[in-house]
Amino acid sequence: MKRLFPLMFIALIVLACGGGEDTTPTEAPGTTPPVAKAQDIDAKKIWKIRCIACHGLYGDMGTNGAANLQEATSDLAYRINIITNGSENGVMTAFGEILSEEEIEAMAKYTMSFNKALEQ
Ligand code: HEC
Repeated sequence: MKRLFPLMFIALIVLACGGGEDTTPTEAPGTTPPVAKAQDIDAKKIWKIRCIACHGLYGDMGTNGAANLQEATSDLAYRINIITNGSENGVMTAFGEILSEEEIEAMAKYTMSFNKALEQ
């Protein structure tokens, strides 16, 4: 037993030092920063904040002569233009400086959803 003691001592030291295991924390998966995608835009929320005062919740309120969006049949390009630049008579606000291009397109599509006849 006496002879084994130094061997056990060495074995203990080797075990205590570990096998040189790499304990550096690795980057957790799926931590890329979020990028705003068109499908993430909450058109209904923007509508309630920016558009409801004139157009109403259902698009047909017509405050200040706002177009009735349940009856409007204009195309997407016309809507993107009027939302970006405002109405020619200056009543509707130009949102080009307020909303991003993606948001404006999402809003143009959203306004089309008020007209049942335009629903695909
Ligand atoms: C200050 C009042 C006002 C606000 C706020 C407003 N609008 Fe308008 N909107 C109008 C008026 C007035 C017209 C009609 C303009 C015309 O035909 O010359 C109009 C017309 C439109 C049209 C064209 C409909 C058509 O085919 O004739 C769209 C689309 C539209 N608005 C979307 C929006 C969206 C989206 C928002 C919010 C981001 C918004 N509007 C906010 C007053 C407003």
